[in-house]
Amino acid sequence: MTQFSFLLSLAILATQAVAFPQIQSLGGLSARELEDILPRLNAVTPPPPPGASNDTAVRLVNDKAHPYMPLRPGDIRGPCPGLNTLASHGYLPRNGIVTPTQIINAVQDGFGMDVEDAMVLAYSTMLVDGNVVTNLMSIGGKSPLTGPDPPKPAIVGGLNTHAVFEGDASITRQDFFFGDNHSFNPKLFSQFVDFSNKFGDGFYNLTVASELRFQRIQQGIATNPQFALLSPRFSTVYGEAAFPLVFFVDGRKADGKLSVKDALGFFRDSRMPDGFHRTDLSKSADAVKNFTGAIFAAHPTQPGKNNGTVNSYIVDPNTPGLNDLCGLYENFVNNIIVSLYPNPQGVLRDNLKANLNFFFGPFEGCTQLFPYGQ
Ligand code: HEM
Ligand SMILES: *[C@@H]1O[C@H](CO)[C@@H](O)[C@H](O)[C@H]1NC(C)=O
Ligand SMILES: *[C@@H]1O[C@H](CO)[C@@H](O)[C@H](O)[C@H]1NC(C)=O
Ligand SMILES: *[C@@H]1O[C@H](CO)[C@@H](O)[C@H](O)[C@H]1NC(C)=O
Ligand SMILES: *[C@@H]1O[C@H](CO)[C@@H](O)[C@H](O)[C@H]1NC(C)=O
Ligand SMILES: *[C@@H]1O[C@H](CO)[C@@H](O)[C@H](O)[C@H]1NC(C)=O
Repeated sequence: MTQFSFLLSLAILATQAVAFPQIQSLGGLSARELEDILPRLNAVTPPPPPGASNDTAVRLVNDKAHPYMPLRPGDIRGPCPGLNTLASHGYLPRNGIVTPTQIINAVQDGFGMDVEDAMVLAYSTMLVDGNVVTNLMSIGGKSPLTGPDPPKPAIVGGLNTHAVFEGDASITRQDFFFGDNHSFNPKLFSQFVDFSNKFGDGFYNLTVASELRFQRIQQGIATNPQFALLSPRFSTVYGEAAFPLVFFVDGRKADGKLSVKDALGFFRDSRMPDGFHRTDLSKSADAVKNFTGAIFAAHPTQPGKNNGTVNSYIVDPNTPGLNDLCGLYENFVNNIIVSLYPNPQGVLRDNLKANLNFFFGPFEGCTQLFPYGQ
C-alpha cells in the first residue's frame, strides 16, 4: 500500500466512523449505545418550522431552476414518490439527506401541499426515522452513508423503517414481508395500469384510487401472514392513495385524473412531466381531505392485522379511526415515541421536546402531551 492510499483508506474509515450515525435514527438504542454515539454527533438546535408559503398560485414547477437530473452514485431515494421527485428536481437536496424545514418548504413550493399536512408528515418522520440530534434524515433506504446496522430494535433505514410510516398495502411498493419494501415494483405498477384502464378509461381517478386501495388491502390479507394496518399507517394508506389525484395532476387541469404515463414518471422515475404546474395550494388540503374520505367510504376497512397466518385479519379496537385526529396524535406520542425513546437525556431529550412541540402545531385543539416534561 502506498502512503497515499494508506492515508486515503484512513480518511475513508474516519469519514465512515463519523458519518455513520449522523442521519441514522436514535430510536430504540440502549442507554449504553446512546452514550457512545451522542458525543460523536454534530448536535444542532432544531429551528422552528418555516411557516406557510405566501405563494399559493398554480405555477410552473418543472422549470429551468429545477431540472430533472438522474441519480448520481450515493444519491438516496425511498418509498415516497413525492419526496423522491422533489429531490430529483432539486427542491430537496439531490442526495436525499434532508431536514424537516427543507421538506416543509419543498412540498409547498414544488407540489402545493399545505403547511399543516407538511408539518405533520415532516416532524413525525423526523421523530421516528430521522436523527433528532443532528436534525437530518434520509428520504430513502439504508445506503453506504447510513453505515453498518446497529443492534435491533434500532431503526435503520430512513423512511424505509417498517411498521411506522413505511407500511403494508402500498400501491406501487411491495409489503415488507416480501422483501425489498421501498423500490418501485413493476408488477404492482401493472396492476395500477390495469385498474386505471378498467375503472378510469386509462386514468387514475377517484374510482380507481378507491378500488386499487381496497385491492391492495385484500391482497395483503390473503397473501401476507404479517399484514398489518395499524395507526398511523391505517390513516396514511388512504391519504397516499389520494395524493396522486391532487399533487401529480397538473394544477391548470386539477380534475383528479392522472394519466398512466405521468404516473409512471412520478412513481418510477421521480420525474415531473415537461411543463408541469403544481396545484393551487389554497385548495389542496380540502381536496386531499375530500378524496381521502371518499376512498375510505367506498370500502371502509377497520384497522387491524393478520395473526401470523394469511386470511386471519382481526380488527384492533384500540387503533384510532381515520377522523380521530387527537387519537392519532396521542397514539403517536404515547405509544410510538415513548417506546422508541423511553428515557432520553441531554441534547437528545431537548431536541425530542422541540420536535414534539413543532409536531403538535397542527393538532391545536387537542391536549398537548409532554412525555419528557414541558
Ligand atoms: C411532507 C412530507 C412527506 C413525507 C415525510 C412522506 C413520506 C412517505 C412515506 C414514508 C411513504 C411510504 C409509505 C408506504 O407506502 O409504505 C410515502 C408514500 C407516498 N407518498 Fe409521501 N411523504 C411526504 C409527502 C408527499 C407528497 C407531497 C406527495 C405527493 C406529491 C407524496 C406522495 C406519496 C405517495 C403517492 C405515496 C404512496 C406510494 C405507494 O403507495 O406506492 N408524499 N410517503
Ligand atoms: C412572499 O414574501 C416574500 C418575502 O416577504 C416576497 O418577496 C414575495 O413577493 C411574496 N410573494 C407573494 C406571492 O406574495
Ligand atoms: C426491506 O428493504 C430493505 C432495504 O432494501 C432491506 O434491507 C430489507 O431486508 C427489506 N426487508 C425484507 C423483509 O426483506
Ligand atoms: C373515473 O373514470 C371512469 C371512466 O371514465 C368513470 O366512469 C368514473 O365515473 C370516474 N370516476 C369519478 C369519481 O369521476
Ligand atoms: C370538499 O368537499 C366540500 C364539501 O362537500 C366542498 O364544499 C368543497 O368544495 C370540496 N373541496 C374540494 C377542493 O374539493
Ligand atoms: C389465526 O387465525 C386463524 C383464522 O381465524 C385461526 O384458525 C388460527 O388458529 C389463528 N392462529 C393463532 C396463532 O392465533
